[in-house]
Amino acid sequence: MDAAEQRALAREVARRRTFAIISHPDAGKTTLTEKLLLYGGAVREAGAVRAQKSARYATSDWLAIEKQRGISVSSSVLQFEHRGCRVNLLDTPGHKDFSEDTYRTLVAADAAVMLIDAAKGVEAQTRKLFEVCRLRHIPIFTFVNKLDRQGREPLDLLSEIEEVLGIDAVPLNWPIGMGSDFAGVYDRQARCARLFSGGRHGTLQVDETTVEGAPDDPAVRAALGSHAGAVRDALELLDGAGAVFDPALVAQGRQTPTFFGSALTNYGVLPFLDRFLELAPPPGPRTSTAGPIEPAAHAFSGFVFKIQANMDPDHRDRVAFLRVCSGHFVRGESAIHVRSGKPVRLARSTLLQAQEREIVDEAWPGDVVGLFDPGVFRIGDTLSAEGGFAFDGIPSFSPEHFARVEVALVLNRKALSKGLAQLSQEGVVQLFTEPGAGTAAMILGAVGPLQFEVLQHRMQSEYGVPLKLTPLPYQLARWARGGFDPEEFRWSESVKIVEDRDHRPVLLFRSPWNLDMTRQKQPDLVLTETGDAPRGDEADTDD
Ligand code: G4P
Repeated sequence: MDAAEQRALAREVARRRTFAIISHPDAGKTTLTEKLLLYGGAVREAGAVRAQKSARYATSDWLAIEKQRGISVSSSVLQFEHRGCRVNLLDTPGHKDFSEDTYRTLVAADAAVMLIDAAKGVEAQTRKLFEVCRLRHIPIFTFVNKLDRQGREPLDLLSEIEEVLGIDAVPLNWPIGMGSDFAGVYDRQARCARLFSGGRHGTLQVDETTVEGAPDDPAVRAALGSHAGAVRDALELLDGAGAVFDPALVAQGRQTPTFFGSALTNYGVLPFLDRFLELAPPPGPRTSTAGPIEPAAHAFSGFVFKIQANMDPDHRDRVAFLRVCSGHFVRGESAIHVRSGKPVRLARSTLLQAQEREIVDEAWPGDVVGLFDPGVFRIGDTLSAEGGFAFDGIPSFSPEHFARVEVALVLNRKALSKGLAQLSQEGVVQLFTEPGAGTAAMILGAVGPLQFEVLQHRMQSEYGVPLKLTPLPYQLARWARGGFDPEEFRWSESVKIVEDRDHRPVLLFRSPWNLDMTRQKQPDLVLTETGDAPRGDEADTDD
């Protein structure tokens, strides 16, 4: 790399921000996403996304946006520019299409925005997604949404975040009023009140008046009107007893900068976006078998975090989503596929982004590239121009839905085994077996039920096997470490012992209660929520 290329790389890395939104369905992710795209100039008009709402539950969260823009369903990253930053917003499907891909996507993100409905607080799906972010120690920013409706007390919400998630919530602004009285936010850092008016969904219209001064300043008090006392008291309390904002703790994922607003009326969205882009990190080093790989100090490298098959039988192509980690990606160049040790040409690459499914000629660290996959890629695979190292793999996440494969009904057992082995390697579902029971006892696990539908569709269309599944009554899986006595569970109705693809013992539990009981009875048993990722440079023996 010459000096000019080096400078270009450093510049592109510094301006990249790659993040995902984590939330429970209905918290307002689609609405907020649309507003961010509008501010980023990636869409020109809003409203159409909402208009398609009724059809949305049956499809993808992203689909509404994609339909509006007339682009491919497989779009997985929305890219926009704002204040000199190149922003990559990764899709985290949340409704019917919530799946293991949602978790895997978080492995490709450098930061997360946790979106919370002010009336509901921390909900189940948010909690699960938060745990994955915590494992990765990425910074998490919180946006408390729907302040234009009567919700819970803001202080109450902060306590809930701290208690349920175990992270310090540090409000960088504070709401002025709530519901129909929601007038704006007090910016604790800039020390000014931002008063909004005229906000309306469907446009970016919002008028902002800024009144500078401390909460006690007469001009601020006058501007806050009847809210002045409540805002001053809350801020005094936070100044005295609340956690002090510390960017180092934010970077480690131990403190979450918290913002209040309303995605629907635009109130507080732009101040949030501006601060978020200032505080969120650019792509940093990623750990690998050869130590940390610095984005600007290495030639092109990246890892596959998602593989998507086209469901259209006329276009049975697959796209591997690669997160670029270092160097300059240039279409047509070659890189080493580390697991197989073979070179691959990066010839057909698409950037699946909001504008359209377009050919990408180049990409930089933080970007996501869709690579045409002739069937060689797997989740967690490393591609590298230099070769010689593999990034940390992507762990398996605890499934929540389980089903038994009805083997007796399948005529072509060989195709069944091959299909299940290949599709589980690709990450479509997780494949477990009951020890000692052979292929007769194949159990599948999925984070979301849509994964089973995708599997059945692909088994039929790619392997000619109609797959019948019988749901099993388990709700969670834990990988067991250290020795344990399988006899303890032999007759248990509520706990089942299985093995994952790599023959690691896994316990399936009917309910969280059963998990707690097992922990109490066997305190020495170590149970983890994720299964270790296979090392990315190890060839798979199942091939
Ligand atoms: P999701 O993607 O997280 O599932 O949420 P989505 O944006 O679809 O929003 C869910 C519902 O919450 C929608 O209402 C949306 O209008 C509403 N919403 C989102 N942000 C705000 C906000 O800041 N304030 C208020 N008051 N509502 C908000 P809906 O009734 O389901 O749909 P629609 O009739 O508005 O289209």
